[in-house]
Amino acid sequence: MNQDQLKQMVGEAARDEVLKLPAGQVLGIGTGSTANCFIDALAPFKDHFVGTVSSSNATTERLLKHGFKVLDPNDVQGLPAYVDGADEIDPLGHMIKGGGGALTREKIIASMAKQFICICDSSKQVPVLGNFALPVEIIPLSQGVVSRELEKLGGKVSLRLAKSTRADLNQTPSEPFVTDNGGWILDVAGLKIADPLKMEVQINQIAGVITVGLFAKEKANILLVSNSAGVERIAL
Ligand code: 5RP
Repeated sequence: MNQDQLKQMVGEAARDEVLKLPAGQVLGIGTGSTANCFIDALAPFKDHFVGTVSSSNATTERLLKHGFKVLDPNDVQGLPAYVDGADEIDPLGHMIKGGGGALTREKIIASMAKQFICICDSSKQVPVLGNFALPVEIIPLSQGVVSRELEKLGGKVSLRLAKSTRADLNQTPSEPFVTDNGGWILDVAGLKIADPLKMEVQINQIAGVITVGLFAKEKANILLVSNSAGVERIAL
């Protein structure tokens, strides 16, 4: 079974999971190739939800194409669940996210939700976070100062360029990748993140940081993880 099939399988499992929620609510929806599989699987059942809130322009576009209603988060009080992928997840449900550059909106929507349902294939499960370079969204003029602060934590920092992101985002190669919020992203390699909550707080306190892609406070509550044997549901 290839990775696309694993993503499709977990997308379908997530559809079955959210259809157990009482009808007539609003659902939070993440960003990335696994989240896309979930959106496609849920599309025939979209009327179970009165609307969605989306974590990126790319997701909004996909939801609208399928005929989902996309609501402004400011018009929504709370969400029963938020469904999204991850770049890495540890055994306690702490995650690295932001490989697709949508980390800030993802964290905002996750914070509105009662449950974070993380969907991924088993290649994303790690004992300790940090093999995947940690994305940090910043205000562009703070690049120098924030990079120096992140290097003090032991990381090797690189500015994400448009060419290093997914082609569907359609940005000019070799220019900085620009997020939906007008921010830039620093990718921090070489961190061994033994205490995700502590590091999340520490990095969030650096002036110029918009959001760090460590999801420790907003960790996963349910993990649906696929491998060639099927999909496992883990309550965290
Ligand atoms: C986007 C994200 C994604 O959830 C993460 O990058 C995983 O993506 P994929 O499902 O394509 O592997 O955080 O900002």
